[in-house]
Amino acid sequence: MFKIAIVSAAGGVGRSTLTASLATLLSQRKIAVLTVDFDPQNSLSTLLGSDEVSLGGLLPDFLTGKEFGMSALVNSNEVACLPFGRSNEVSLVTFEQHLRTEPEWLKQCIVQINYPPGAFLLMDTPRLPSPYARQAMVAADLVIAVLAPDARSLALLPAVEAALTRCNPGCQLIYVMNGLDSTRALQSDLLAQFRSALQMRLSPYPIHRDEAIPRAVANWANLQSLSPDSLVAHDLNGLLSWLLAGPASNLDGRAKI
Ligand SMILES: Nc1ncnc2c1ncn2[C@@H]1O[C@H](COP(=O)(O)OP(=O)(O)OP(=O)(O)O)[C@@H](O)[C@H]1O
Ligand SMILES: [Mg+2]
Repeated sequence: MFKIAIVSAAGGVGRSTLTASLATLLSQRKIAVLTVDFDPQNSLSTLLGSDEVSLGGLLPDFLTGKEFGMSALVNSNEVACLPFGRSNEVSLVTFEQHLRTEPEWLKQCIVQINYPPGAFLLMDTPRLPSPYARQAMVAADLVIAVLAPDARSLALLPAVEAALTRCNPGCQLIYVMNGLDSTRALQSDLLAQFRSALQMRLSPYPIHRDEAIPRAVANWANLQSLSPDSLVAHDLNGLLSWLLAGPASNLDGRAKI
């Protein structure tokens, strides 16, 4: 299983949206995919069409001693998602303490999942620094850091590098820009600055700002089926092809569903 952690140092930059979109595209290409919503917000589970978080999830399963992964749900696009599940202040404190004392907890849980060898696992996380993002980075073969086209994401680049170096120094790190408006000169200038700082580690496929995304979310619809000709659908397909040909290509015989 090829494991990808989706992280960022800034909040609200599109991590959950990107995770859900890539998972759906992988499934459309007949590549088995499991997503883990490793964020108490449960945003990924919602994006992937599950309103059943009250039924279970990785936190409730942890607290009741159930096997990891038992609460995964499969949506109509064949994307499996393990929700975080319902939480409260007390359960979060208990869980986060456990994550801090057992930095490889998620990694060890994932090893036990019975999935086809060539499948993908995508992990959504809260913004850095967080014990959830740290666990996902420790477990990952590849970390995708999502950037907004703004000065804040540029200033926070060293924070992402440092966080990964501390917990999984050998891990591949690549960057994806999300929410680009090419008509704004400042954003194009910033993209050039990101390119010069990150070189080949920045995906050549920025994801443009596109109203198709919030519209799809508002309609509980799958982005690809709602607007297959949208600019953002084109961007996402380009990004996935780039990932499969490069950063995520070192798989032995990627499995078909
Ligand atoms: N390319 C895009 N174009 C337009 N809107 C977008 C795009 N990407 C994400 N959004 C919107 O931006 C908002 C934030 O996206 P998302 O929840 O995926 O970010 P996040 O990084 O996971 O946020 P959080 O820090 O809350 O976890 C959502 O309303 C989403 O619909
Ligand atoms: Mg999110």
